[in-house]
Amino acid sequence: MNTISRAAAASLFAAAMACQPTPAAPPAPPASPAQPSPTHTTGSAPSASACAPFEDLNAMDTRTPVPLQPMMAWHQKQNMMEHLVAIQRVTDALSREDWGGVAEAAELIESSPQMETMCRHMGSGAPGFTELALEFHRAADAIAPAAAQEDTAAVLRATSSTLQVCTSCHAAYRQDVVSASGWRARTGESHAPSHHPR
Ligand code: HEC
Repeated sequence: MNTISRAAAASLFAAAMACQPTPAAPPAPPASPAQPSPTHTTGSAPSASACAPFEDLNAMDTRTPVPLQPMMAWHQKQNMMEHLVAIQRVTDALSREDWGGVAEAAELIESSPQMETMCRHMGSGAPGFTELALEFHRAADAIAPAAAQEDTAAVLRATSSTLQVCTSCHAAYRQDVVSASGWRARTGESHAPSHHPR
């Protein structure tokens, strides 16, 4: 990641954090007159209006929130981008019947103890999230064996089943970026994730 996108992510998180605590967002006022919006907020202290866009978004996005600290949220997004790269590489290798390439790409999303530990941390504040995450990795485990059989249809079936778990999870959950104390309150976890293997 380049520094610009890091900075952008940091300022986004700062904005999101500044808007805490955000319990259930109040419903948007009906037919509020259009308000002039500043092109840039250079300000120091977050104002109520800086939080309004987040509240508007949360009111529309009714998926189950997954509480994550900023670092975890960014880590999750990086994982997600890598997941999509893995799928792209699977399909590319498959199109060339490069069976080794299919297996290599699938390895990026296969089950592993590390993967499981991470999924448990990510899902610790959202019931059902971790189970879905583990189901996703298990679905991906079927891709490499199908490639070993040099069976195009089986690779496609396993890839489709994997993608189906991606889309189910996206339909059900969204990120909810919270402070360290907010995360502890929502998850009951007492340690920072990096110090909390289980
Ligand atoms: C267990 C749940 C889960 C699974 C499985 C899952 N995702 Fe995600 N994904 C999420 C969540 C939560 C977000 C954040 C949505 C939001 O912005 O609030 C996300 C976001 C993304 C994003 C956007 C990242 C960004 O930069 O904002 C991409 C791309 C993505 N997922 C790809 C995938 C792909 C591809 C798969 C499967 C191969 C997958 N995901 C599987 C939960 C999941």
